[in-house]
Amino acid sequence: MTTWIGVISFLVILCCSWLPGSLATYNVGVGRADCTGPTAEITFMGYAKLTQKGCGLHLRQFARAFIFDDGTSRVVFVSIDACMVGYSLKNAVVKKLKTLYNDTYTHENFILSGTHTHGAPGGFLVDVLYDITELGFCADTFNAYTTGIFNAIKKAHESLVESHVYITSGEVHANINRSPASYDQNPEEERNKYKYNTDKTLRQLKIVRASDNELIGAINWYAVHAVSMNNSNCLVTSDNVGYASILLESEYNTNSVIGQGDFVGAFASSNLGDVSPNLNGPVCVNTGEACDYVTSTCGGENKYCIASGPGKDMFESAEIIATRLFSKSKELLSNETAQELSGPIKFIHQWVEVPKQAVDIQLENGTIQTVKGCLPAMGYSFAAGTTDGPGEFDFKQGSSTDNPFWNIVRDFVFPPTTEDINCHYPKPILIASGRIKVPYNWQPEIVSTQILLLGNFALVGVPGEFTTMSGRRMRDAVKNVIVDSGGDSSTEVVIAGLSNTYTSYIATYEEYQLQRYEGASTIFGPHTLQIYLSIYKTLAEALIKGQKVDAGPVPDDPDKSKLLSLITPVIFDSSGWFWNFGDVLQQPPKSVKVNDTVSVKFIAGHPRNDLMLEKTFLAVEKLGDDGKWNVVATDANFETRFIWTRTSFIKAGSEVEVQWQVRNGAESGTYRIKHYGHYKSLLGGIYPYQGTSHNFTVTSS
Ligand SMILES: *[C@@H]1O[C@H](CO)[C@@H](O)[C@H](O)[C@H]1NC(C)=O
Ligand SMILES: *[C@@H]1O[C@H](CO)[C@@H](O)[C@H](O)[C@H]1NC(C)=O
Ligand SMILES: *[C@@H]1O[C@H](CO)[C@@H](O)[C@H](O)[C@H]1NC(C)=O
Ligand SMILES: *[C@@H]1O[C@H](CO)[C@@H](O)[C@H](O)[C@H]1NC(C)=O
Ligand SMILES: *[C@@H]1O[C@H](CO)[C@@H](O)[C@H](O)[C@H]1NC(C)=O
Ligand SMILES: *[C@@H]1O[C@H](CO)[C@@H](O)[C@H](O)[C@H]1NC(C)=O
Repeated sequence: MTTWIGVISFLVILCCSWLPGSLATYNVGVGRADCTGPTAEITFMGYAKLTQKGCGLHLRQFARAFIFDDGTSRVVFVSIDACMVGYSLKNAVVKKLKTLYNDTYTHENFILSGTHTHGAPGGFLVDVLYDITELGFCADTFNAYTTGIFNAIKKAHESLVESHVYITSGEVHANINRSPASYDQNPEEERNKYKYNTDKTLRQLKIVRASDNELIGAINWYAVHAVSMNNSNCLVTSDNVGYASILLESEYNTNSVIGQGDFVGAFASSNLGDVSPNLNGPVCVNTGEACDYVTSTCGGENKYCIASGPGKDMFESAEIIATRLFSKSKELLSNETAQELSGPIKFIHQWVEVPKQAVDIQLENGTIQTVKGCLPAMGYSFAAGTTDGPGEFDFKQGSSTDNPFWNIVRDFVFPPTTEDINCHYPKPILIASGRIKVPYNWQPEIVSTQILLLGNFALVGVPGEFTTMSGRRMRDAVKNVIVDSGGDSSTEVVIAGLSNTYTSYIATYEEYQLQRYEGASTIFGPHTLQIYLSIYKTLAEALIKGQKVDAGPVPDDPDKSKLLSLITPVIFDSSGWFWNFGDVLQQPPKSVKVNDTVSVKFIAGHPRNDLMLEKTFLAVEKLGDDGKWNVVATDANFETRFIWTRTSFIKAGSEVEVQWQVRNGAESGTYRIKHYGHYKSLLGGIYPYQGTSHNFTVTSS
């Protein structure tokens, strides 16, 4: 009997190892698409600063999609250059995908993760609290993100090819902990297990086409806030991690403009809750002294305690962080010793109504205690913001504010109940967001919980910003359950941050006690992490054992046309009596050299008339030997800036400035600057126009 089983198994292994696509390879597709939102006048998402509105573009936003298929099962991971993502956005993408691919891509096998850039337009989350500073729902942002994510997945779908996938990692010093006082609340014995108070490991999946060993894609996960660009920036940007992607893609897509080329390289978010890229740390900008360690204040005021660095300004800081991430990623990609993933592809997903959860936890003295989730609520420290961007969230109730949207919603604010106060203790509640259902939900209560498995690699999609230690506990818990359930003992677990649903922060129980920003923004109360650990452990076990879990309650997705929005549309554009759109107001100098910045100004239409997805608002062109003009840089390049200003509100006039910094390596020759835009006529039609500067020469010497 045993002999026969042995022989049959041997034959099965022999046969299947000959089949293409079995065991060691997967079918993998990669795709990238432009998803840049409106670049003018819409408030950025992240710093909660009403006055931080778009005034142009520094780095375009992209969605990057990766599909993995083992012949029976398929998963998709998308990283998008956006602050975070929400259920409505993902649902819009899933519905759009269904029209082309039926049930191939669903909420269950698709993780959508935001990079957490704070330099991109908001108004797309639908939940009232998260859209307040944007003056409500912004359809332009929502539609640009939906289109970009959909297009990226479509490209990945169309590029599926047999590939090897490798996992590797390396250490990068590009982050610091911005709430060390909270981190220090965690048990000493736990902290002693780690060298640093942030995770410095960059984990990478490297994708190589099987037929010719060509590198086709890479996903890098690293825990860092995308806040090198501070809250005074008004140019749309994908910030440090977005620029790292651009550097990596430029490295492998030689001779392509940014956003083009087959190689796709993402830098996705992870457990970045308490992690800052501002390596010089916080300092009192008014006195130069150190901030108070526990409260991050200067003489009692939080607005002066600001972190920055390592560059001399925010652009250079973003570039330094990006370059460190890119360099390590490139080094790992060129190393042949990475471990190849093998084993089946699986996925598991469950909707969970967190405030209704109760889990048993074991206290240090052995007693079992049942802990519960709370209805969402934000604590006082939430309004204080962080050292990466002190808060200006105008939450003084009863007084009139300069945010008309907040003035409307203020009237819906309800006081917390005794139950809320006890549940969230010791959090002093500023907004009992879970009690308010008018005009619609203020914060989600049903979240998406999910794990994707690629053989011995597990990707844990979490609905918010896990702090360093929360992420470590989650990775350990999932890994232990995978191994205990009979899974591969070499499994690597990675946290995919800000995935699918956004519910602010997830601090540990111990960190929560101090009620700094991250604890104050842990919306389901002190036991949020313990509840998630219990849920993801159940998911991991079911995943390995091939069991099904209950789908859970599906969240509401309100009709977009019924959402509140006080964002004013573009009425019309005027070029002024004697001018035409595209006319040059300021010409470049006749000749420039390396390190000069060329500035050209044009009469313009409003950039919101057409978002120019997969196009560009500007081009730097060089005259070729054949007499043709070649594009050497677009608005997606780091060395260009597209800056919009309103010249006269009454006259509906706009002006744009194109800046191009001539960098080392620029070739000598004849150049010119172009601007592309659209204007809206008084009668309502939208028409394209373009402008071209005089020729100028670049001398590199
Ligand atoms: C779509 O998928 C469903 C369930 O997976 C299946 O029953 C149906 O036949 C599919 N429809 C098409 C048009 O393929
Ligand atoms: C943002 O960074 C710039 C340098 O690029 C600095 O001048 C400014 O003070 C910073 N602003 C804030 C609010 O941190
Ligand atoms: C490649 O990676 C291995 C394992 O991490 C490491 O030991 C080795 O030094 C790396 N080689 C290069 C050339 O970086
Ligand atoms: C265990 O600790 C909890 C919380 O500190 C306390 O409420 C409980 O009484 C303790 N139980 C025992 C048996 O000491
Ligand atoms: C341009 O600036 C960089 C950095 O400041 C410097 O290293 C380089 O020498 C400069 N190049 C020229 C040609 O001036
Ligand atoms: C710019 O260069 C092109 C190509 O040499 C030439 O046709 C054109 O007349 C030049 N324009 C100006 C304004 O000098």
